[in-house]
Amino acid sequence: MIELKKVLILAGGLGKRMNSPRPKVAHEVLGKPLINWTIDAARGSMADEIGVVLGNGADLIYPLIPNDVKTFIQKSQLGTADAVKAAKDFLDGKVVILYGDVPLISSETIISLFDSKADMTILTATLENPTGYGRIVRKDGKVIKIVEEIDATEDVKKIKEINSGIYAFNSQTLIYALEKIKNDNKKGEYYLTDAVEILLKDKYVVETFEAKDPLSIMGVNTQRELAALAKKVKENINNALMDSGVTIEDPETTFVGPDAIVKPGAILKPFTFIYGKSKISSSAVIGPQTTIIDCEVGNNSSVIKSDCAGSIIGDNCSIGPFSRLRYGTFIEDNVKVGNYVEVKNSHLSKGVKAQHLTYLGDATIGEETNIGAGTITCNYDGVRKNKTFIGKNVFVGSNTALVAPVTVGDGAMIGAGSTITEDVPAYALALGRARQLNKEEWVLKKRRGTSDEK
Ligand code: UD1
Ligand code: CA
Repeated sequence: MIELKKVLILAGGLGKRMNSPRPKVAHEVLGKPLINWTIDAARGSMADEIGVVLGNGADLIYPLIPNDVKTFIQKSQLGTADAVKAAKDFLDGKVVILYGDVPLISSETIISLFDSKADMTILTATLENPTGYGRIVRKDGKVIKIVEEIDATEDVKKIKEINSGIYAFNSQTLIYALEKIKNDNKKGEYYLTDAVEILLKDKYVVETFEAKDPLSIMGVNTQRELAALAKKVKENINNALMDSGVTIEDPETTFVGPDAIVKPGAILKPFTFIYGKSKISSSAVIGPQTTIIDCEVGNNSSVIKSDCAGSIIGDNCSIGPFSRLRYGTFIEDNVKVGNYVEVKNSHLSKGVKAQHLTYLGDATIGEETNIGAGTITCNYDGVRKNKTFIGKNVFVGSNTALVAPVTVGDGAMIGAGSTITEDVPAYALALGRARQLNKEEWVLKKRRGTSDEK
């Protein structure tokens, strides 16, 4: 029978040292919550099943957990062994235990742990500064126990080989150890690390596996550690991008998330953030001062001083400065979206121009249509969101309010300052404004002080 491979992620702890009302694993590194870094690493290991143990702040973490990941609740936070116990029913086959606060673990390391043969394999690392971690205590070269920093003597504190907190277990062995772990330590917690001594005493095989990259097992316990880790990851990502041929004018102020793709030839200008599952094509220019989340940007397009989320931008487009693209925006090639223009859930076909001071929400706009300055689609009637359809080659005059639901036919023209409440037929001129009245010499006659009073 083929042995099941499972990953169990512990994320129930308080995160006390963060001093934050937000649960630790919901804190973000490069726009991605800690817990999702770990879940994605687990996914890459081709595990049969992934489980997460939640406790503190579970309500805030649930929305971050993908549907196919199982969740377990640890009622009170009595230590890492107690957390594993909360998921006892999940334990089957080979189990790799990960921590929600150790985000940089690689899928390759998890795969190596699945391949380990011992009853328990501890992932270790040698750190220049091992403070805060449990230490690996050896005798005649063989691991004999793990001692927590708080319980360590001065001699043990000098050991630089640390416990990453990540292990591979045979489930049966793990369940056996869990039954025996006690909480007689300074913290009064059930330490999973005690499994080492328990298993060795009963002649189980316990081995260690050294992580090649110490950064990959770095834990986050404080806000400072969170910032330090984010800084290192950012550097690594930027360096890899530059090596691949991306121009980053100022790596210090450029932030690219782990799931974003930036193609060689793209130019990233200072103070730019590219997060989520974004894709930036080669020869696109992003920034300065631009945030892009879950967007695609096509070839030769530029996005300047703008805020874009959940949008697709075609080739040869010019976005910004000061544009805001919101979720559900689809922009075809050769489109210009200019300053103080907000677009939400709208489709702008090829060649559309909306260059100044405009709101386009729930709108579909045909090819080569020009949207004048100050155009507003009035999509919300206080109850429902309504749609605006504008055909191709339409000219919408400045300061037009399009009261949705409304349709403007191909080739139509709308006079500036119109409030359009009814559909406009193709090729019609629509005027929806009060007619201008000029009173000749009214000023000279009536305005006090200016009239030649007789
Ligand atoms: C743990 C290890 C330590 C190791 C370090 C590596 C133990 C006793 N110690 O210490 O040897 O060097 O990780 O980062 O295991 N958690 C729960 N429920 C609990 C307690 C913790 O789910 O009751 C979760 C936390 O959310 C966290 C993880 O387990 O994701 C680790 O807990 P934490 O308290 O941070 O352990 P450390 O003191 O860092
Ligand atoms: Ca920790």
